[in-house]
This record gives sequence, C-alpha cells and structure tokens, in this order.
Amino acid sequence: MTKYVNAVIGDETGDASLPILEGTLGPQAVDIQSLYGRHGILAYDPGYRSTASCKSAITFVDGDAGILAYRGYPIEQLAEKSRFLEVAYLLMFGELPSAAEGTAFRDSVCQHNLLHEQVISFYRGFRRDAHPMAVMVGVVGALSAFYHDDMDIRDPQQRINAAIRLVAKMPTIAAASYTYSTGRPQRYPRNEYDYAGNFMQMLFGMPNRDFVVDPVQVRAMDRILILHADHEQNASTSTVRMAASSGANPFACIAAGIASLWGPAHGGANEEVVKMLLEIGTPENIPKAIARAKDKSDPFRLMGFGHRVYKNFDPRARVIQESAREVLAHLGLENDPLMAVALELEEIALRDEYFIERKLYPNVDFYSGILLRAMGIPTKMFTAVFAVARTAGWVSQWLELHNDSTHGIDRPRQLYVGSGLRDYPETRG
Ligand code: SDX
Repeated sequence: MTKYVNAVIGDETGDASLPILEGTLGPQAVDIQSLYGRHGILAYDPGYRSTASCKSAITFVDGDAGILAYRGYPIEQLAEKSRFLEVAYLLMFGELPSAAEGTAFRDSVCQHNLLHEQVISFYRGFRRDAHPMAVMVGVVGALSAFYHDDMDIRDPQQRINAAIRLVAKMPTIAAASYTYSTGRPQRYPRNEYDYAGNFMQMLFGMPNRDFVVDPVQVRAMDRILILHADHEQNASTSTVRMAASSGANPFACIAAGIASLWGPAHGGANEEVVKMLLEIGTPENIPKAIARAKDKSDPFRLMGFGHRVYKNFDPRARVIQESAREVLAHLGLENDPLMAVALELEEIALRDEYFIERKLYPNVDFYSGILLRAMGIPTKMFTAVFAVARTAGWVSQWLELHNDSTHGIDRPRQLYVGSGLRDYPETRG
C-alpha cells in the first residue's frame, strides 16, 4: 500500500523552498539539486518522465504541440530549405554557417571521411551476417585507439576535431558494414559527391561501373539525415552524455550511443516497423494487428506508434511520409503494398479509442522504413542510417556538456528495496 504525504520538507530554518527554473521555451523545472544535501530525501523518477537531466540550447521539442526545432529553427523548414551538413554545423555551433564557414566545415568533413586502413581490417573479424549496428558499435569504439594525439577532451579544439571526425567517418563506417555483409569491397568516400550522395555511393557503388546519382533519392537521404539528426535528451543521447560525464573519450561515448539507439523501443523501431508491415501484409489483416496491439496479454506493439514526448503528431513523421510518397512515385512504386498498409493502419489506429486516449501517433520511425526500403536500403541497415544522422546530434550534445566546465559526473541514486542489513551466518549448512 503506497503511502502518500504532502511532501512538505524543511530544514532547521523551516525553509523548504526550491527554486523554479525558467527555460526559453517549454515547461519550467523545479531545481531539486539541493534536495538530498539539505533534506536527506531523494526524488524518485524511473524512466525520467518528469526529469530535466541538463540545460541544453540545442533542440526544443514540444510534444503536445508537435514542435521540433534545432537551435530555434522548425524542423519542417530545415528539411525543406537546408542540407544535412549545414544542419550539423548549426547543431554543433549554434548558428547557421556563413558561406565561408559552411565551405570550411565541408572541407574539414571531406578531409576526415576516410578510415585508417587498419580500421578497415577490423571488419574482417566480424561474421558476414553480423548486424550492422554490432559492427558500428565495435568499429566506432575502436577509433579510440587511433587518435591518442588528438583526444584531450580538456582542449576545445581537440573536442571539435573529434566531433568533425565522427560526423565525417560515420557514413564510411556504416556503408562498410553493409558492403562487408554482401561480400563487396569497401568503397572509399569520393569528395565530388555531397554528404548524402557520398553515403549512397559507398552503399551501392560497384567497382566495375560508375555510380549513377539519382538526385531525388540523394535529396530524400539528405532529408532523412536532417530529420534524425537530434532530438533533445532521448535514450541514446542521454547515454552519450552519461558516458561523457565520466570523461570517456568521444569515440567511446558515441559507441555507447550507437548501442543504446539499437534498441527496438528506440532507433531499432524503423526496422521493426517494416517487419510488422510485412507480417500484416494486406489491409485485411490490420484489424487483427490493432487488436493485438491493444491486448495487454500480447507483447505485440504497433511499432512506429507512440512516443514518450510527442502526444501529438511527430512532425518528422509527416515530412518523411511526404518524402516516401515522392520517392515511391519517382520510382514508379506508387502502389507499394507496404505504403498502402501503413496509410490504412495509421487511419484506422487514429480513429481507435485506445490510441486516441493514449495519444499514440505515428512517430519518426513509422514511414522512414518504407522510404529507406524503396531506396534499396536493406532493413537491417535502417538503424545504421539513423546512427549516421544522430551522430551530428550526439557530438553536439557532447560538445555542449564539455563546454559547461561545471558539469561533474552523472551519478543518479536509487530507492533501495533490497534486504535489510544482516550478518554472515556463523556456519554455512
Ligand atoms: C524513437 O525519445 C526520443 O526522442 C526517441 C526518438 C528520437 O528521435 O530519438 O524520437 C526516436 O525512438 C521513436 C520511438 C520509436 N519506438 C517505437 O515506435 C516502438 C513502439 N512504441 C512504444 O514502444 C512506446 O510508444 C515508446 C517506447 C515509444 C514510448 O513508450 P512510453 O512513453 O514509455 O509509453 P508507455 O509504454 O508508458 O505507454 C503508455 C500506454 C501504455 O498502455 P497502458 O499501460 O496505459 O494501458 O500506451 C501504450 C502502452 O501499452 N502504448 C502502446 C504503444 N506505445 C505505447 N500500445 C500499442 N502500441 C504502441 N506502440
């Protein structure tokens, strides 16, 4: 039986006041940092539903209004008007780059998008059927062994160098994890392509013929990268920040983020959405899937639906749905059965009381898999694409944490519910 008390707390002065912090946008926060020190009491918030873990100026999300903005710029505008490298610069440095800054940033990325030849040899140690995310966790973590002379996190310039290296190398690493699985040779980046085009030529290019760029698909890939670049303090970003708070090197921190993103409740959902849609197969099977999603005795969930923060449409889902339609039409796949099932599933679910009551809407993962699949990207690479994009956000959040010199190690406490103290028995039967 849970006891409830009005949490009236106070010290010898009777002062129980806790400061209220105001952000630029979004909910206020009660500053409880002094709670345990002054009053010996902890705040309990498993899953961090009501916890602001940090102050950040990078991304704003209003889940009720369905707003997502990077450094104040709405995601819809960035997806329409910007390109991924410009967005990466914006996330890392806080402002859109001037022409000269943009060119210098792109040149830096192009300078660092190759992998050390010994890093490429790591791929040989994996089974050909290894999941790309398993490969990426390993290879990105291993980069820690290659930049000893430029990894002093106390040096702001070395921090920026590491951030740029990670943004630059992630497409090469992800593409190599795919080509390795197919038995094809790893492709080198070619700097005549833009960031998204380079990623696609490394994914699909063949050594015995030139890669033909499809500008519609390259633009769609660039838009996917923009939409997935950052999302405030989600599970993988919080993982990166937690690792960063101990002083771990940037490559190890991003490897931890990749591991967290891989989970099916997080970045792994796009892969699960396509598997779910393929399993449903036709619109006739949708009612059964909806019933299963509502059945508490059934672990089945409607993948790509629901979100911890969005209790309205995920603005990214709409942009990706539009991109998916555009690419499907461009490829003559307007009648893609998966898209038909997805659209019908969304329409039925959004009319169903269960989903309405729980404010479950399509999230970023619901349509992204359809788009990626139409572009020829295998299902098991979907989360790897997400990781390429989110690296821009992860390194930006990593930089922001280290720019706050007051930030110490993140060390949450617990509500202990184990055994009381007891002595080791004199005799062991
Ligand atoms: C991403 O955090 C981020 O920002 C993440 C992300 C990013 O950009 O970094 O936006 C990317 O991870 C998007 C989410 C992708 N995951 C999925 O699509 C997996 C399916 N969705 C669910 O697993 C779930 O909705 C979560 C994990 C996304 C959110 O879970 P919450 O906030 O913990 O919600 P909950 O489990 O408390 O659910 C509340 C209710 C429950 O029912 P009741 O117990 O109240 O009766 O809603 C139900 C849940 O059973 N519910 C679902 C459901 N999601 C929640 N029921 C059926 N299908 C679903 N998908």
